[in-house]
Amino acid sequence: MPTIVITGAAQGIGLATAHLFVSRNWRVIGLDANEELLAKASRQGGFEPIVCDLADPRQIEKAALSIPSLTVLVNNAAVSANTDPKSLLLDEWNRVLSINLTAPFLLSRLLADKLDSAKGAIVNIASTRALMSEPHTEAYSASKGGIISLTHALAMSLAPIRVNAISPGWIEHVAPESLRETDHAFHPCGRVGRVEDIAEMVWYLASEAAGFITGENFVIDGGVTKKMLYPE
Ligand SMILES: NC(=O)c1ccc[n+]([C@@H]2O[C@H](COP(=O)([O-])OP(=O)(O)OC[C@H]3O[C@@H](n4cnc5c(N)ncnc54)[C@H](O)[C@@H]3O)[C@@H](O)[C@H]2O)c1
Repeated sequence: MPTIVITGAAQGIGLATAHLFVSRNWRVIGLDANEELLAKASRQGGFEPIVCDLADPRQIEKAALSIPSLTVLVNNAAVSANTDPKSLLLDEWNRVLSINLTAPFLLSRLLADKLDSAKGAIVNIASTRALMSEPHTEAYSASKGGIISLTHALAMSLAPIRVNAISPGWIEHVAPESLRETDHAFHPCGRVGRVEDIAEMVWYLASEAAGFITGENFVIDGGVTKKMLYPE
């Protein structure tokens, strides 16, 4: 049975990806730092939990050691720190970079030799914030820009394992009921994104149908980054 390892699997995009792969008969191993949420999600979703704080390289190593083999790794977990760069603490900057960028690097190299050499793939979840910004998002944006570069570098170093990135735009899963009509209409596709939009792209990139694709970043944002904006 093919096996997928997903970080940040306790909720959101990671959980939706876990559900999708379980429903298509994959063995799913979900990592997360939130022990309670992960226990509940894995019980309900039918996947195997590993509690792991990705800010801690020793916990990452321990988790990687406990995984015997895999077909696909999804580096999905991330945090943000929305603070004015003039007051952002160096500790906050380092925490965001360590979870969002260093952990995917560490997990990828620790698991590289355990990835299926014929069908193996890594999917890194970046963000459209790697390409465009609001004020006070330096640490998050830098980490997401970094993961896109890490993606094409690893695609060369770990070949023939395929390594790709997905850059989601606005994906609402916390409070979809609070979305306004204008939020949907802002998107050329006519709606705000759903977690399943990203999970399906992970499915595609993990599949043999994507066997000639590596080192790429795929923007899944309903067209927002392609929209030309002028002042009113
Ligand atoms: N939701 C969006 O609109 C959106 C947009 C662009 C990019 N993304 C990216 O998609 C990915 C998932 O986003 P989401 O909205 O589902 O996030 P989320 O915050 O809902 O879930 C993230 C998960 O990661 C886990 N996590 C956080 N810190 C961790 C740590 N130190 N160790 C282990 N696990 C940890 C959390 O417990 C949580 O379960 C992230 O990489 C995010 O940057 C999301």
